[in-house]
Amino acid sequence: MKTIAILAGDGIGPEVTAEARRILEALNLDITFEEGAIGYAGYVAAGHPLPPATWELAKRADAILFGAVGDPRGDALDRALRPEQAILGLRKQLGLFANLRPATLFPGLEDASALRPEVAREIDMVILRELTGDVYFGEKGLRTTADGKREGYDVMSYNEEEVRRIAVVGFEMAKRRKNKLCSVDKANVLETSQLWRDVVIELSKDYPEVALTHMYVDNAAMQLVRNPGQFDVIVTGNLFGDILSDQASMCAGSIGMLPSASLRAWSGDNGLYEPIHGSAPDIAGQGKANPCATILSAAMLLRHSLDLHDEAARVEAAVSAALKGGARTADLGGTMTTAAMGDAVLAAL
Ligand code: NAD
Ligand code: IPM
Ligand code: MN
Repeated sequence: MKTIAILAGDGIGPEVTAEARRILEALNLDITFEEGAIGYAGYVAAGHPLPPATWELAKRADAILFGAVGDPRGDALDRALRPEQAILGLRKQLGLFANLRPATLFPGLEDASALRPEVAREIDMVILRELTGDVYFGEKGLRTTADGKREGYDVMSYNEEEVRRIAVVGFEMAKRRKNKLCSVDKANVLETSQLWRDVVIELSKDYPEVALTHMYVDNAAMQLVRNPGQFDVIVTGNLFGDILSDQASMCAGSIGMLPSASLRAWSGDNGLYEPIHGSAPDIAGQGKANPCATILSAAMLLRHSLDLHDEAARVEAAVSAALKGGARTADLGGTMTTAAMGDAVLAAL
């Protein structure tokens, strides 16, 4: 019997995880679900965005299905108590340094993409985002300059081991796909990026079959909308990967479509699975959220943490079939509610 922790969180988090849970339940697997409070909901329930009971559950579970954290009421709290600290803490403390963010265009979603159909149709990439380093976890704070001005700072750094381990995942993933790896950095300006590039080049000697390219992040942002079909695997740092993946989502139709897996290299232990989007306070509680990104995250959970490859493929096929059948939430130009979209996927399953 496997245990899946469901950490629904805030805003649309509970709405989208409920649909993903229904899909998992329909598969009749030998799993139990345990829910934990997190984010602003964790703060309200237990005085902390990542309450001790939730942390214990996360460590104990075979895998975590995560919704989203973030609430406008949390923005006024001390940094350490803000809802977003919960997801950052989970990633860091569980050592989940490899964040897989696949972006593909499901057939029929051409009209939802921000790109022309013939350009959008070519999208089939994975953005591999480093998840436990970079400016997110460097020294940070607020200080006063000599002449009395307030100054905020966040230190960006990567050591070579951090770069090497994510690059290894990138090369290995490229080998299993189209043998193309694009490393995205800002080596023309940042020391952090120069080391990143040097380490990736050193490692490339072990992967002669993989065609390695390098791209500055500003160019990558442009190329993503000009010709996304050129990318197979993109490997990049925490901040660049965060931004580029939101951008890629609109190439693929909607931010409500992109799932993610956060792993320790290839090990699925304690893997965390979440949509790339946030708690969407603007549509929370209205049944408008697209649950597909979370349902597809559940498929990644089945594949990476439970080794259930056929079931994972079944769930993905069901999402695809529902979309082909015309199922659309508002973000995709339709009128379906979150639950109706879940019903459509369930029916296809
Ligand atoms: P967001 O991703 O929550 O929303 C951006 C826009 O996309 C909004 O207009 C929203 O309505 C829309 N959107 C997002 N998900 C959707 C879905 N499934 N279906 C349809 N539309 C969807 O980003 P934001 O507004 O910048 O942030 C809101 C809060 O979420 C903030 O507190 C932020 O810190 C948090 N956040 C959390 C995570 C996470 O938990 N991993 C990720 C991103 C943002
Ligand atoms: C994401 C989010 C988070 C991030 C925030 C909420 C901390 O944007 O998961 O993409 O920046 O990593
Ligand atoms: Mn993000």
